[in-house]
Amino acid sequence: MPGYDLFDRREMESLQRLFEEGGLLNRYAAQLRGRSYVESFEAAIRQTYSFRQTLAVSSGTAALKCALKAYRVGPGDEVILPAFGYIAAALAVLDVGAVPRFVPMRDPYTMDSRALPRLLSGKTKAACLIHMLGVFHAPPDVVDFFAGRDIPLIHDMAQCFGSEIPPIWAADRLHAFVFSFDFNKTITTGEGGMLAVADPDLFQTAHAYSNMGHENRPGLPKYLDPPLMPGINFRMGEMEGCLGLVQLEKFLRLRSPRQKFVTELEILLSHAGASIPRPALAAVNGDYATLEMASAEEAESARRHLVSEGVEVRTLPNGLQWNWCGNWGHLGPDVLLSSYPKADRDSDRALLERCIAVCVHFGKEESCRQILERWRRARTEGRSLNKTV
Ligand SMILES: Cc1ncc(COP(=O)(O)O)c(C=O)c1O
Repeated sequence: MPGYDLFDRREMESLQRLFEEGGLLNRYAAQLRGRSYVESFEAAIRQTYSFRQTLAVSSGTAALKCALKAYRVGPGDEVILPAFGYIAAALAVLDVGAVPRFVPMRDPYTMDSRALPRLLSGKTKAACLIHMLGVFHAPPDVVDFFAGRDIPLIHDMAQCFGSEIPPIWAADRLHAFVFSFDFNKTITTGEGGMLAVADPDLFQTAHAYSNMGHENRPGLPKYLDPPLMPGINFRMGEMEGCLGLVQLEKFLRLRSPRQKFVTELEILLSHAGASIPRPALAAVNGDYATLEMASAEEAESARRHLVSEGVEVRTLPNGLQWNWCGNWGHLGPDVLLSSYPKADRDSDRALLERCIAVCVHFGKEESCRQILERWRRARTEGRSLNKTV
């Protein structure tokens, strides 16, 4: 359910207002105009999640890199990542000079904790959980493994904005949260991202890094703001801040009915195939309903049929190139093979090939439900589904 489903005149009006107020589009315009939409967007996300500090940046990938910089991850370090997720985290790790180590899957939502001791080394500096397909899922055994060793856990929340997190983590130095607002996300600003960290020092480092390394001392003009460290330009602009505020307000209004709807869909789907167990309602943002079929052939046939009926469905391998590290040979043989044995790769690929994810667009809930209900009935009655694409 991409946020662009909800675009209406309110996004346009907010941009028009920004121009009528003088069209100051830059991130640190607050000093000149007396207010900043980016800062208001940061505050709104802070309030939504009870985060202590939030930093809006130019993309989710930029936010991941800011998180790594904040935890001082650099050359020679290793970062533990799930094998199934999204390539941005691995690229951010490589970009700070560190090496990703991939953990085999337990299900499409998380990593297999039994592999963690094998992947841990004296060089492990951080770990990342990538909360996939609209579901926030941080199994206690995985979290405890890292917490017990003081290893920071970066939560990539790009695909699950709106699902709840344990409030205690929002105030914990060892947990960082990263969001993306790219065009396909539930809240979109076109491009954009956000980092939330609890600790003021972590925040200052990330903030400075995202603004050319400068301190961002309030009240000082840009040219007098002292440099703290080498950095880069990952700033979010005011247009994105404006859009983010409008999209957030719409999403929060619709979140709860969407969560319920997608949970109902999964129950319906579970009568037609084996569903994937997943955490409670609050952890779900209403983006996707996911299920595991008996075989790859069944998953593909279900996908084809449902797509022909007008429902957006992906078998998970559709996204393998971007989502599964088994296909990331271009990151270098070192990165992949040493931590992800072939037997795990084969079984993970087989699991992904059996899974489908139904994306429910805003405004199409009822027709989606009817199509899935017809499909379920046909399957349980053993009727063939001959309309395929
Ligand atoms: C799980 C996940 N992480 C990170 C990103 C990267 O976000 P961005 O495109 O804003 O850089 C995405 C984008 O699709 C994603 O799905």
